[in-house]
Amino acid sequence: MRPSRVTLDGLLFAMITIINLQRADQWRGPGTTPNLEDIVIGRCYDYIETVNPSVGKKNCTAIWEAFQGAFISKDPCSVFPSDYERYINLTLHDIPMNKSLFWENNKQLVHRLSDRGKRYMALGDTLMGWLADNLHFCGSSSNSGFDYNSCPTSSECESNAQESFWRSASVTYAKHSSGEIQIMLNGSTPGGGFPMPRAVRILQCVDFPGNPECTTNSGSGFTSVWMTMIPVWITIMNNYGNMND
Ligand SMILES: *[C@@H]1O[C@H](CO)[C@@H](O)[C@H](O)[C@H]1NC(C)=O
Ligand SMILES: *[C@@H]1O[C@H](CO)[C@@H](O)[C@H](O)[C@H]1NC(C)=O
Ligand SMILES: *[C@@H]1O[C@H](CO)[C@@H](O)[C@H](O)[C@H]1NC(C)=O
Ligand SMILES: *[C@@H]1O[C@H](CO)[C@@H](O)[C@H](O)[C@H]1NC(C)=O
Repeated sequence: MRPSRVTLDGLLFAMITIINLQRADQWRGPGTTPNLEDIVIGRCYDYIETVNPSVGKKNCTAIWEAFQGAFISKDPCSVFPSDYERYINLTLHDIPMNKSLFWENNKQLVHRLSDRGKRYMALGDTLMGWLADNLHFCGSSSNSGFDYNSCPTSSECESNAQESFWRSASVTYAKHSSGEIQIMLNGSTPGGGFPMPRAVRILQCVDFPGNPECTTNSGSGFTSVWMTMIPVWITIMNNYGNMND
């Protein structure tokens, strides 16, 4: 019966289109990076074997499990910094004194300057930051447990997998930083590099680890502005022009 066959095909097509539209439109951020597991585990071995072997033995399988365990199959808007505790615990290593580098809005330049931890060790040069650099990730109730179509941006919901990851990692990084600390801001940022970029607020966790902003078990973001001055030695490398070869 040809007519009904056509109708059925048409109906199926319409249903699939509607489902696809709904899925693609759910969030505004990019979906989970394909092959996330292979990337994270591969980066982990690369880091401990070639980038920074001084961190010693780390269990890359356990690290991956702790990482995905923070958000897999979960509501993508209910992931908190404390969910990464185990991941942080497994990836943690010493940050050499005087090598910390906080930055904002100049990532590519910072990576060139820090030289994979040889000159400075920015968060992205530590194991905990290295593994997730430039990756997108969030959970969903689908079979895979990951949403490969879209992930929430921080304006859609603050307690998302990525925001909470970087908050947890940044606070841990600040608490483990010591000595002379570099901070590199971008003077060309619309509105100016100062007065209170996130890097500076996180930096205060070096001296005030007890501040509520420095805990990883609350769901709040870096929204309140601290007015305390920081008694650390800050080298502001605002004039990046001469390093821009
Ligand atoms: C690494 O972690 C995995 C998963 O937690 C575990 O099964 C394995 O035994 C661990 N390997 C070592 C060498 O500890
Ligand atoms: C983190 O590691 C310490 C030991 O280094 C252990 O006492 C603590 O229970 C661990 N916490 C988590 C959440 O795994
Ligand atoms: C860190 O910098 C301070 C101040 O410049 C210096 O006194 C100290 O020796 C340095 N420590 C290391 C381990 O380089
Ligand atoms: C600094 O910010 C400006 C404006 O957002 C941007 O165009 C430029 O690439 C940034 N510089 C670096 C080194 O990232």
